[in-house]
Amino acid sequence: RRPKPANGSNDKQEQLAASTAENAPRLTTNQGVQVPDNHNSLRAGVRGPSLLEDFILREKITHFDHERIPERVVHARGEAAHGYFEVYRSMSQFTSADFLQDPSVKTPVFVRFSTVAGSRGSADTVRDVRGFAVKFYTREGNYDLVGNNIPVFFIQDAIKFPDLIHAVKPEPHHEMPQAASAHDTFWDFASLMPETTHMLMWAMSDRAIPRSLRMMEGFGVHSFRFVNARGESHFVKFHWKPKLGIHGLAWDEAQKIAGKDPDFHRRDLWEAIARGDFPEWELGVQMIPQDKEHSLPFDLLDPTKLIPEEMVPVQRIGRLVLNRNPDNFFAETEQVAFHPGHVVPGIDFSNDPLLQGRLFSYTDTQLSRLGGPNFHELPINKSVCPFHNFQRDGMHRQTISRGHVAYEPHSLNDGKEFRIDGGSAGFQSFPEEIETPKLRRRSPSFDDHFTQARLFFNSQSAAEKEHIIAAFRFELSKVTAPIIRQRMVDNLAHVDEKLARRVAEPLGIGAPDPKAAAGRAGFREHRMKLPIEESAA
Ligand code: HEM
Repeated sequence: RRPKPANGSNDKQEQLAASTAENAPRLTTNQGVQVPDNHNSLRAGVRGPSLLEDFILREKITHFDHERIPERVVHARGEAAHGYFEVYRSMSQFTSADFLQDPSVKTPVFVRFSTVAGSRGSADTVRDVRGFAVKFYTREGNYDLVGNNIPVFFIQDAIKFPDLIHAVKPEPHHEMPQAASAHDTFWDFASLMPETTHMLMWAMSDRAIPRSLRMMEGFGVHSFRFVNARGESHFVKFHWKPKLGIHGLAWDEAQKIAGKDPDFHRRDLWEAIARGDFPEWELGVQMIPQDKEHSLPFDLLDPTKLIPEEMVPVQRIGRLVLNRNPDNFFAETEQVAFHPGHVVPGIDFSNDPLLQGRLFSYTDTQLSRLGGPNFHELPINKSVCPFHNFQRDGMHRQTISRGHVAYEPHSLNDGKEFRIDGGSAGFQSFPEEIETPKLRRRSPSFDDHFTQARLFFNSQSAAEKEHIIAAFRFELSKVTAPIIRQRMVDNLAHVDEKLARRVAEPLGIGAPDPKAAAGRAGFREHRMKLPIEESAA
C-alpha cells in the first residue's frame, strides 16, 4: 500500500490540481483536450448550420447552463475573507479545545458576513440582521461559530423558524417586497409573537444598519458549553468585539447608499483587506459554571435573552484578523458550508430549543444546496487535519478510496484500515443528566418578553431612541392593515408607554393599549427581576 499524503488528498487529486490554471497554459476541454479555436463553433461550411458533434461547444455551453446553484434559503447575500485566530492565554481551565490552548498557535479561519432576508443580488445597507459565521480550521477538526450581529433572536423554538422566514421573505404571490421588514406579513407575524419584541428593538436600532462589516459586533447568541479535560462544564456566550468600534449608518444615508452602491459593505471589506487595513475582532466569552445554571433571573437556554455584561463581564480571550480576500467568490464564499453542529472536543451544545433545531437544519439544507453528501470535500470546507471513515460514494465524490474494506469492524487488510482509540479520546458529549417526561410545551422560564427589550431601549442615548422610534414608524407606515399596526403598538406599550405612543402618533390608529395586548392569544408576561434594571434606566 502506498502511504497517503499528509494533507488527506490522493494522487489523483494532485494530478488534477497540477493540470489546471496556472500550470496549464493551453486552453483545454474538461477532458484535457486542447481547444483549437475559442471563437468559432464547428459548422457545415462557413455559412452553414452548427454541428451537434461539436463537443467543445457542447461542453462549454452545458457547463455554463449549470453554473447556478440554489442560493441559501436565508443569508443568501454574503461576502467573506480568510484570516487567522490566536488565543491570548490558555483556556485549559475551562475548555480542552485545542485551538484555545496555546497563544503561539495561529488557527486559519474563513469568515462569511451576510444579510438574512434579501436574495443574492440584494443591496448591502438594508435594515436587517447580519450573519457573522466563522469557520476555524483547527488541528482537531473544523469548528464553526455561526453567529449574528445581534445577541438575541426573534423566536425561542426552532419549530417557528420556517414561519418567521416565510413572514420575512417576499410574499409568495408577487415576490415583493425585497426589503426585510417593511411589509404586512413580517409585522403580522411579529405582532402576534410577543417573544420577538426584544430582537425587534435591536432590529429597529442602528445595529441593523451597520456602517461597515468591520464595525459591528458578532454573537453566538445561544448558550454553548465549554468542557475541560476533567469533564467540567461552563455555559458560555460568545462575543466578537470589533477593533474599530461599533458604528451605524443613518437610515436616510443607508437607503441612498442602497440605491447608489448596493455593494457598499462588500466593497468596503474587500478594499480594506486589499490595502492591508486588516479588520480585527476580539473573541469575548461570558462563562457561567454548570452548577450556577439557575442563578440568573432569566433562563440561560432562552435565545431571546442576553446576559447583561454588568452581571457577567465579557472576558476577551483572543483575536481574529482577516488578512486575505478569497480567490474565487463561488468556490469559497458561495460553497462554504457553516454549521453550528461543527464542534470540536471541549465545545458542546446546550439544550436551547432554537439551537437544537439548528443542529438538524444546516446539513439538511446543504445537501440540496450543494448537491449531495460530499461537500465536505470541497477545498473551502475540507478540514486541515485528515479525515478518514467508511462513508463512501454519493454525488460528486472526489476521494478515491482504495481497497475493498468499507465497514467496521473488519479483519481484512490486517484490521488496520483505521482505529478508534476509545476511552476519553475524540469528541465526548457532556454527560448532562436528563430524566424527564416528553413534552411539547414551552418552559414558563421563557415567558418574560419585555424586560430585556425595555433594558435595551433604556440603554440607548436620546438620539438612538429617536432612531428606533423613527424606524418603527417607517416600517409600520408600510403596513397596510391597521389591525397589525395596532397590535404592534399595543405590544410596544409593554416595553415603554412613551415609545409606543410616539410610534402610534402618525400611524392613524388608536392609542396603544397594553391591556388589549395582554388579552391576546400567545401573550405571556412573567416579569423577571434584573438587578441592573433600575440603574440602567
Ligand atoms: C444560514 C437555518 C437560526 C445564523 C442558515 C441557513 C439555514 C439556516 C437553512 C442556510 C445555510 C446554507 O445554505 O448553507 C436556521 C434555522 C434557525 C436559524 C433553522 C433556527 C431554528 C439562526 C440563528 C443564527 C443564525 C439564531 C445566529 C446565531 C446563520 C448564519 C447563516 C445561517 C450566520 C449564514 C451562514 C453562511 O454565511 O453561510 N441558517 N438558522 N441562524 N444562519 Fe441560520
